Amino acid sequence: MDSFLIRGGNRLKGRVEISGSKNASLPIMAACLMARGRSRLHGVPRLSDIDSMNKLLGELGCHVYRHPPEDSPREKGPVLNGPLDIEVMDESRCEARYEIVSTMRASICVLGPLLGSRGRAIISMPGGCAIGDRPVDLHIRGLQRLGADFRIESGNIIGEVRGRLKGCRMYLGGAQGPTVLGTINVMCAAAMAEGETVIVGAACEPEVVDTANLMNKMGAKISGQGTPEIRIEGVDKLIATEHRVIPDRIETATFIIAAAMTNGELELKHCNLDHLLAVEDRLSEVGIRVERENGTLRVSSARRLNPIETTTQPYPGFPTDVQAQLMALLCLADGMSVITERIFPDRFLHVGELNRMGAKIRKEGATAVIQGVKELQGATVMASDLRASAALVLAGLVARGQTRINRVYHIDRGYEKIEEKLIAVGADIQRVRE
Ligand code: EPZ
Repeated sequence: MDSFLIRGGNRLKGRVEISGSKNASLPIMAACLMARGRSRLHGVPRLSDIDSMNKLLGELGCHVYRHPPEDSPREKGPVLNGPLDIEVMDESRCEARYEIVSTMRASICVLGPLLGSRGRAIISMPGGCAIGDRPVDLHIRGLQRLGADFRIESGNIIGEVRGRLKGCRMYLGGAQGPTVLGTINVMCAAAMAEGETVIVGAACEPEVVDTANLMNKMGAKISGQGTPEIRIEGVDKLIATEHRVIPDRIETATFIIAAAMTNGELELKHCNLDHLLAVEDRLSEVGIRVERENGTLRVSSARRLNPIETTTQPYPGFPTDVQAQLMALLCLADGMSVITERIFPDRFLHVGELNRMGAKIRKEGATAVIQGVKELQGATVMASDLRASAALVLAGLVARGQTRINRVYHIDRGYEKIEEKLIAVGADIQRVRE
């Protein structure tokens, strides 16, 4: 298992190219299962989660091919990815095996496309993960409302459709608010159902919007995406298309915070600040300035960071996927901050590791109280989940001395060539291959 060695203290200065969104790419790749012909996706990042989805689509009868990187003139920084082709060859395959689903619970996003286009799906129950339980009851309930029958056998979800799914008006919200992948699953299944479906309490995330926009290019009739009420008029078939996925807003937020923590100045290319207004709002209160110039963000910060209070919310609120990175930043604020996690109340595995680096964080249920300190100390720490690992990288960039982060495969799931991008703007980071 690889590790990162980081020597803290360097100010980050220069340009970073933001990759395409992992959380848009995964459901969009799954939606390609529904389209006849060869779809071509641009901007899909090279990540281990994407590799897992490629493998899953291969087992579901698709031919997946990644083209070499488009050789665009490039300043410093890694060459990113080439287009990804997905062609449906065999529609008889409908099983997502445990070996794949257990490594990536987002595999659940093939459920709606399979039921909508093939009428059958066998998916290993996605277990929990480091950030807590990951139930799929809302997915099942929404798909049952469309007429799918489900049973659980030997840890597998088996879904079947007698005849054709039928559209209906449904409420899809849960105790913690809307479900992103649940909304997308129901939207995909409804796209080829008979009649109209209205999803009330739908997730509004940009990744839901991007998936709906891709499906409309394929011939679907979806409207209201980005609002809590999505309307889908069922059609008989969907045709392969070409699409560029939206920029990764979580990676963007991570690099904005990296610039602020190192008191550096970064230009972030190919990103969309409109997807991060809640993050911009809270970071401006900390003292971070984000100026936009077309598709580029210019980040700088005051030397003194102000403490703040924040609660994670469904979009457009402050995203849970930026909670750990914000916590790393607030470790250096001038006073006491409070973060409350409303989406995944257990999402605090980074607290213990940050405290090992000299942070003063106290967890009380779904709330963390962060007492700012003058500096963090380098230490050996353990990555646990994707975003917690990113928080440890951020802390290592500013800690005094060397930080070793073990199990960085967690980071490789969601950040494309992160160490190369950081080195290109002055970070002292290296990957140690075990
Ligand atoms: C997506 O997960 C993202 N993953 C997550 O990002 C993100 O944290 C999450 O949305 C919330 O924004 C992908 O898009 C691949 P949910 P998803 O269903 O769709 C509860 C990352 O770091 N719930 O919106 O699986 C659930 O427990 C990952 O990139 C049910 O109760 O999340 C949670 O409390 C981590 N029943 C809340 O809803 C269900 O059937 C929101 O979960 C489904 C969800």
